[in-house]
Amino acid sequence: MVDLTTTYLGLKLKNPLVASPSPYSEKVDMVKRMEDAGLSAVVLYSLFEEQIIHESLELDHYLTQGTESFAEAISYLPDTGKYSLKPERYVEHLRKVKQAVSIPVIGSLNGVSSGGWVTWARRIEEAGADALELNIYFLPNDPQINSLQLEHSYAALVKDVKEQVSIPVAVKLSPFFTTIPNVMTSLVDAGADALVLFNRFYQPDFDLEALEVTPNLVLSNSNDLRLPLRWIAMLYGRLRADLALTSGVHTAEDVIKGVMAGASVTMTTSALLKYGISRATDILEGLKTWMEEKEYESITQMKGSMSQRAVAEPGAFERANYMKVLSSFKALP
Ligand SMILES: Cc1cc2nc3c(=O)[nH]c(=O)nc-3n(C[C@H](O)[C@H](O)[C@H](O)COP(=O)(O)O)c2cc1C
Repeated sequence: MVDLTTTYLGLKLKNPLVASPSPYSEKVDMVKRMEDAGLSAVVLYSLFEEQIIHESLELDHYLTQGTESFAEAISYLPDTGKYSLKPERYVEHLRKVKQAVSIPVIGSLNGVSSGGWVTWARRIEEAGADALELNIYFLPNDPQINSLQLEHSYAALVKDVKEQVSIPVAVKLSPFFTTIPNVMTSLVDAGADALVLFNRFYQPDFDLEALEVTPNLVLSNSNDLRLPLRWIAMLYGRLRADLALTSGVHTAEDVIKGVMAGASVTMTTSALLKYGISRATDILEGLKTWMEEKEYESITQMKGSMSQRAVAEPGAFERANYMKVLSSFKALP
């Protein structure tokens, strides 16, 4: 019998496959189905800073201006689409999910700036979340803001959130930093208990018929694993934080690679949306079979075994390998 257990954010999990935030977690029965399919924990869809600010501005306008000026005022706020659910409803949903399943439930806050909205971290904890994931998703388009200012503001946000809660906090980030190890270290110094690498950026597309910019959500495939895989392999053993891999986890092999790079858990969304929740069961079966065939006894034994520190050729992760890779490419005659 192989031992699939792992520890993430101080939580003992029955295996390293976790559901990352997706529309599935909006329904209690879907979270139950994810638990039944074998996923070892679920990160709920996010409560957004914009939703919280929207709600408090709405209240403020009702209290101070009356309802007449409200429609005009609200039109200046960002359109949060179906995410304009009340934050109150989010914590209520989390409470219900907690009651319905026995796997750990991780709440998710999504924002960029420090401010009163972070008090919702505490509300998420009070609703029963086992941990919190803070998704910092920011698109800097102001040429006056430099990277250091931004990185300081990210660390300040992590500190603010940590002050609100006593549950562990993971930070989910994009890969778009000049010096990833430096930024990750500063976030861990600010209190992050885990880093979730990497968020997928949803890039807009153009509709050439309508001449409109269209939001275009493209699901991942296993090739998308490579980016987080490299960085987890390079960061493993260098930070006082757990590492979680998100993006491109579609197969048992993807989970194995993530763990071997050094991830405590691998997270999946696109695979479940593409193939259905039962995909998780297939991945976990495949993981067990592979480990038995290769005579691995536990996830702990595999963890970090292909990290930069462990492999015979650490340069394979770095620039040194760049020319070799390019010259090995066989172009069509
Ligand atoms: C439809 C959809 C909704 C998502 N909603 C959230 C969300 O609310 N919060 C969040 O942190 N990530 C969200 N994500 C990102 C996923 O949790 C995940 O990190 C990303 O899709 C990469 O993993 P994957 O390759 O397994 O899809 C969403 C992704 C999709 C496809």
